Amino acid sequence: MTAARITVNGKEAPIAPAAPHTTVLDFLRERGLTGTKEGCAEGECGACSVLVARPGVNKPTDWVPVNACLVPVAALDGQEVVTSEGLATVEAPGTAPVLHPVQEEMAVRGGSQCGYCTPGFVCSMAGEYYRPDRCAAADCGAGAGAGEGAEAGDAEHGPNGFDLHALSGNLCRCTGYRPIRDAAFAVGAPADEDPLARRRDQAPPAPVATDYRQDDRAFVRRNTLAETLRLLREQPDAVVVAGSTDWGVEVNIRSRRADCVVAVDRLPELRDLRVESDHIEIGAALTLTEIERRLDGTVPLLAELFPQFASRLIRNGATLGGNLGTGSPIGDSPPVLLALEASLVLADADGERVVPLAEYFTGYRQSVRRPGELIRAVRLPLPLSPVTAFHKIAKRRFDDISSVAVAFALDVEGGTVRKARIGLGGVAATPVRALATEAALEGRPWTAETAGAAAEVLRGEGTPMSDHRASAGYRSAMLGQSLLKLYAQTTEAVPS
Ligand code: FES
Ligand code: FES
Repeated sequence: MTAARITVNGKEAPIAPAAPHTTVLDFLRERGLTGTKEGCAEGECGACSVLVARPGVNKPTDWVPVNACLVPVAALDGQEVVTSEGLATVEAPGTAPVLHPVQEEMAVRGGSQCGYCTPGFVCSMAGEYYRPDRCAAADCGAGAGAGEGAEAGDAEHGPNGFDLHALSGNLCRCTGYRPIRDAAFAVGAPADEDPLARRRDQAPPAPVATDYRQDDRAFVRRNTLAETLRLLREQPDAVVVAGSTDWGVEVNIRSRRADCVVAVDRLPELRDLRVESDHIEIGAALTLTEIERRLDGTVPLLAELFPQFASRLIRNGATLGGNLGTGSPIGDSPPVLLALEASLVLADADGERVVPLAEYFTGYRQSVRRPGELIRAVRLPLPLSPVTAFHKIAKRRFDDISSVAVAFALDVEGGTVRKARIGLGGVAATPVRALATEAALEGRPWTAETAGAAAEVLRGEGTPMSDHRASAGYRSAMLGQSLLKLYAQTTEAVPS
C-alpha cells in the first residue's frame, strides 16, 4: 500500500499530515486553493463544490461535482479533483488566466456579484457542461444566447440541454439567479481540444486500497467486499461511508471523530445494477445520480423521487445504502422503497440474508442490521404496480427535508384496486407502511368515495409529532390530502 495521494488540478499531492477526518474542503483551503468556499459545511449551499473524476455513465469518465465539505480527503486517495482554479488556464507564467467557458459566461452575463458562491456555481455548471449526453438532443452551438435559452428550452432546461437541476444545490445571496441561469443556458459544447473533455475518454482513476492513519485514527478502504466484511467483523464499531453525506455533517456540525472510517463506495459488489425477469437489483453504493441515469425512467416512482431528493450535488454522492443505513425516519427513499415492496440484501463475513424493508426498521435510527453487516443491494420485485406517486411535503420545492413523505403504488384493474402499497416518512419513529389504508383500498372500486374514505384512514396512520418543521395536526392533514391528490392525479389515466 503506498502513501495516500490526491491529484488536484493536475498536480499530485500527499494527503498527510491531514487528520483522517479532514474534509476535501479543508485540505484544499489549507493548500491555498481558497476558491473553494465554506458556506454551511453541511451540504446545503454548494459554495464548496469541486469536480471529481468518476466512472462515467456514457463515457469512461464523468466529471462529477460534489460537496467538498462532506467528503473526507482520504476517500479521494488516488483520485483526481478539479477546483475552480483548475478550470481556468494559465498559458504562460505571469499572464492572466484564460477563463473557462462557464466562468466566462458567468462573468459577462452578470452571474457574480460578491463572488462568494461563484466558484461553487462554476464547478456545478462545469459538471453539467461536460455531461456527455447534454448536447445529444440540443442546440449546443457555442454562444446560444440567454434570450434564446429562455425561449427555446423548457422551464428547467436550456436549448443547450443544460439541466437547471445541476444547480439545485448552489445558493446565491446576491444575483437573483436569472443571470446565473442565463450563463448556464448560454454555454456551448466543449471544444475538441478541451483537456477535461478529452479526459472523459480515458478510464477514471481506479479505486486504491487505503490505510490512512494519523494519531490513532484511521480511514480504510479495501478492494473487495470479502476483505471489507472481514475488517468490519474485527471492527464492528467502524463508521461505514459511501457518499459520506451524513459523515460530513457529523464531523463538521457535531464534531464527531470516529476511530475508524471504512469506505465502501467503490466496491464492485455494491455497484451493480441488474434488471432480471422478476426483480431489479440496485447496488447499495451506486450514487442516486448513477441509479437515475442507468434506470432512465424504468421505475417511474424512483424517477419521481430523485429530483426531490436533496440536490444534484448531494445525489452525486448519496446512496440508497446510506439513506437506509442511517435509519432516519425522514429519509426520502424509504417511503418509496416500502411502496415498491423492496427487500435488502444484507451481507456479513458469514454470508448474505434477504430482509423485506417492511421488517428492517425496528426503532428510531435502529434496524435489524447486525454489527459488522452491510447493506449490499436493494431488490425491487417485478412487475411494478402501474399507478404510482411520491408526494414530498416540505417548506421548499427542492433541496429540503420532508415534513411528511408519502409514496403510493397501486394496481387498479377493471376500476378496482387489486393491490395497494403505501410508504410513509415523517409520521413515526421509523418509515412505515400505511397498512390500514392499504386494507381500506384493496378490493374496492377506485372512486372518489373510496379515496375519500381511505384518506380519512390515512390521516390516522402513524404517530406524528410536532416539531420545528410541522405540527402533528398538519402532518396528519397532509397524509389525507396526499391520497386525495393521488386520486385527482390518476383517475383520468386509470381504465374504468
Ligand atoms: Fe455549503 Fe459545502 S459549504 S455545501
Ligand atoms: Fe454573492 Fe452569489 S454572488 S452570494
